[in-house]
Amino acid sequence: MSKGIKIVTIGGGSSYTPELVEGFIKRYDELPVRELWLVDIEAGKEKLEIVGAMAKRMVKAAGVDCEVHLTLDRREALKDADFVTTQLRVGLLDARILDERIPLSHGLIGQETNGAGGIFKALRTVPVILDIVEDMKELCPNAWLINFTNPAGMVTEAVLRYGNWDKVVGLCNIPVNAVFEEAELLGENNRDLFFQFAGINHLHWHTITDKNGKDRTDELIKVMYGQDDAKSIVANIKDNNLIWEQVENLHMVPCPYHNYYYYTDKMLAEELEDFKNNGTRAEKVKEIEHELFELYKDPNLDYKPKQLAERGGARYSDAACEIINSIHNDKRTTMTVSTRNNGTITDLPAESAVEVTCTITGKGPVPYNFGSFKPQERGLLQVMKSMEELTIEAAVTGDYGTLLQAFTMNPLITSGDVAKEVMDELLEAHKHYLPAFFKEEN
Ligand code: G6P
Repeated sequence: MSKGIKIVTIGGGSSYTPELVEGFIKRYDELPVRELWLVDIEAGKEKLEIVGAMAKRMVKAAGVDCEVHLTLDRREALKDADFVTTQLRVGLLDARILDERIPLSHGLIGQETNGAGGIFKALRTVPVILDIVEDMKELCPNAWLINFTNPAGMVTEAVLRYGNWDKVVGLCNIPVNAVFEEAELLGENNRDLFFQFAGINHLHWHTITDKNGKDRTDELIKVMYGQDDAKSIVANIKDNNLIWEQVENLHMVPCPYHNYYYYTDKMLAEELEDFKNNGTRAEKVKEIEHELFELYKDPNLDYKPKQLAERGGARYSDAACEIINSIHNDKRTTMTVSTRNNGTITDLPAESAVEVTCTITGKGPVPYNFGSFKPQERGLLQVMKSMEELTIEAAVTGDYGTLLQAFTMNPLITSGDVAKEVMDELLEAHKHYLPAFFKEEN
């Protein structure tokens, strides 16, 4: 029998775990995962036990030879791992609620990935990821790290720049969803189309070419944006109506998160309205999670429930399984991931993480060359990448001035006194998770 694969999932108590398990079961013949270690922390123990029991039932029902281990001991789990996946949330959903509530209560977009919330999520997450990388150097030096923890681009870049660890791939479900949904909009099979994405996580654009070499990008833009009730391809962003003359002029398809930049006033108004009436997205997610965990408790449930699709991250884990499969078997699948730029996009620093279409080989992602963007895209992209660089640096150094630069540079945050007030309030609210900023107090 060939040696099986050992996977370690940090943040294993997440409600997304059943998707991951389903993905491994589906691929078992090609990718024999014999050990799946789900790791969590004391505060996530109850969820880990519930979702872990469900994972065990799924594996048993599928009849595959895979042992599911549950543990709070990360180092025990990491020993000799082949792949480590990270889907953790430092401070759990309560921290996300603060990330979204505090900015909104001052009239700013919170947004847990690209807004003020995302900056603070990075500050909390980067030190933890860098610790995990240190453990990996010691306990599983040949393993790959597949990260889906948000903000996925910044976390990946932190690992590359400050963790000095090259075997990392950052993953987001937006490009995965786009390939499926947009092929359908064009009435094509996704296997007959080539999608080329370039940019950074949650701020990328793409083109589409069909199997006859015909560029279908403008046609898709028309289908997606040339009508009044365009629907978004992800559950957490409601509609997709952009200003037609602006989007038509791009000749590249924007991603759903562009709504925040191209239509900031509308997005803010929608978020404030929701905030007033129903609370933040994080609070909604907490309700969905509660419902999901109630389902997971059912000893007869041994498959992924359909309610999981209400979360914005649908298809995430399945994509992660495919990346692992492609690296393990050198399958050379075409996928869009966050990886080191290395000149792929000439407008951005070589050492930064970019989200680009790649061939996933046994040696990791090899990007399709992209070149340079037009000013339409380049300006925003360079601002956001600089903002990311400053945020990561602040997460590592705990430097207040660097963080304030990142804050005021972000186009979703106004500069000046309000920005500083919101930042100070967020620092105070999260101080327990920010040892670099509160050295003496922690
Ligand atoms: C999208 C993004 C993910 C994000 C998710 C949030 O799919 O690509 O990066 O995690 O939405 O969804 P949620 O259900 O947590 O609001």
